Amino acid sequence: MSMLEFHRGRRLRMSATLREMVRETEIRPQDLIMLYFVAETDDTDFRKPIESMPGQYQLSLAQLEKQVAKAVDNGLRSLMLFGIPAHKDELASQAYDEQGIVQRAIRMIKSKWPDLVVIADTCLCEYTSHGHCGMVSKEGEVLNDPTLNLLAQTAVAQAEAGADIVAPSDMMDGRVGAIREGLDNAGYQNTPIMSYAVKYASAFYGPFREAAESAPQFGDRKTYQMDPGNALEAMREAAADVEEGADILMVKPALPYLDVLRTVRDSFDTPMAAYQVSGEYSMIKAAAQNGWIDEKAIVMESLIAIKRAGADMILTYFTEDVLETLKG
Ligand code: PBG
Repeated sequence: MSMLEFHRGRRLRMSATLREMVRETEIRPQDLIMLYFVAETDDTDFRKPIESMPGQYQLSLAQLEKQVAKAVDNGLRSLMLFGIPAHKDELASQAYDEQGIVQRAIRMIKSKWPDLVVIADTCLCEYTSHGHCGMVSKEGEVLNDPTLNLLAQTAVAQAEAGADIVAPSDMMDGRVGAIREGLDNAGYQNTPIMSYAVKYASAFYGPFREAAESAPQFGDRKTYQMDPGNALEAMREAAADVEEGADILMVKPALPYLDVLRTVRDSFDTPMAAYQVSGEYSMIKAAAQNGWIDEKAIVMESLIAIKRAGADMILTYFTEDVLETLKG
């Protein structure tokens, strides 16, 4: 039998060094964005474990500073902030208040680490008394257009505080355009928008809502976030956001939506982000705590899969752990 009759794929797998040389996708520190929950509190020692997300915390400003310092030592390049305000109201006023907790956290981080890329999640759900991402009518409808101005105000407040990127996650129609206009009018033409362009109404966000204390008090988010059955619709959402001025597109969640990520990647030439969400994190943590899986290996394999499917950057709660692994 001729030796050429079958493909000898094993040839290039025979040693670790060889496998490394032919590896197509690798995770680098600059691919990863860490997520932090910063709480408005006078207690500087405040560091509250999030039960449904083992290893993640709500942090006071002082604790956040400590946590970020350690991560920067390990090679952290970028982070995204979520705020837990002391007061919520119908108008989400703490989202755009100059003294809002995220604005204070941005100023603190940028003064200590000017080179860190600080991304602000631009949304109202952590700040509204009802927990929805937009204004709500008397009848309980989440209102689209009246929300846009508040989102733009929030993005401007974040940019004023020093945010390098704003990331609208609310899924109101037209918000990227409204935010772009708001930023430009305020003199922030150079602040990029990372749009949560393709964001599904997903049960994988469950643990996050405990973490950010942002669960809707009535109803759900299905009238604004996407239906999990829809992939073609992802193209319409992405196209609209690019048209309105999005600089980076995001698909969220990540691992259960790799098909969508690949399709969007192939159709748009903007940088692509993927968000490995709280539920993806917690499932891995829970299985690992039971001794059922090898956490480090599963985390790396998941991130490689997300990057292989087309993500240029990944928002993941595992960022700090992976940076440590990559360093060691
Ligand atoms: C705010 C927001 C959410 C997440 C990121 N930004 C929650 C939601 O839409 O309900 C989810 C992140 C996660 O699950 O890790 N709108």
